[in-house]
Amino acid sequence: KSVLVINGPNINMLGIREPSIYGKADYAALVRTCKAAAAEAGFSGIRCFQSNHEGAIVDEIQAALGTYDGIVMNPAAYTHTSVAILDALKAVSLPCVEVHISRVEDREDFRQVSYVRQACFETITGMGLEGYRKAILDLAARLGM
Ligand code: DQA
Repeated sequence: KSVLVINGPNINMLGIREPSIYGKADYAALVRTCKAAAAEAGFSGIRCFQSNHEGAIVDEIQAALGTYDGIVMNPAAYTHTSVAILDALKAVSLPCVEVHISRVEDREDFRQVSYVRQACFETITGMGLEGYRKAILDLAARLGM
């Protein structure tokens, strides 16, 4: 089975961006963590995609249909704004885990809403890169692997 990992805007700036909130590890480390977790979980395929563009993320979710068995996604700021990403997840109806590096529930009011959450079977926050590993393992369990 195959997993698609999607990261939204500014996740490419990991390590540089607000390290007190998001940590010192960079995006390459995030990808390494996901690839190791996918192998550990028994996935034979993994793609890690990052974009700063909402439409590109919608395109990627649509293209996952028939190719990937599930999605792990940190929509970053689009979490709090994007009906389009929610609708794309509903359109493909693939099992999805929502991941946030930081503990969004302890942050600003505008981060308290998640549009994507209703299309996800689980939300993981505040675990840093380890949250991606947990998401991939939980997705594998959900897929009966
Ligand atoms: C984030 C939290 C979002 O509120 C923020 O806009 C991000 C990253 C996280 O991983 O903690 O860019 O999704």
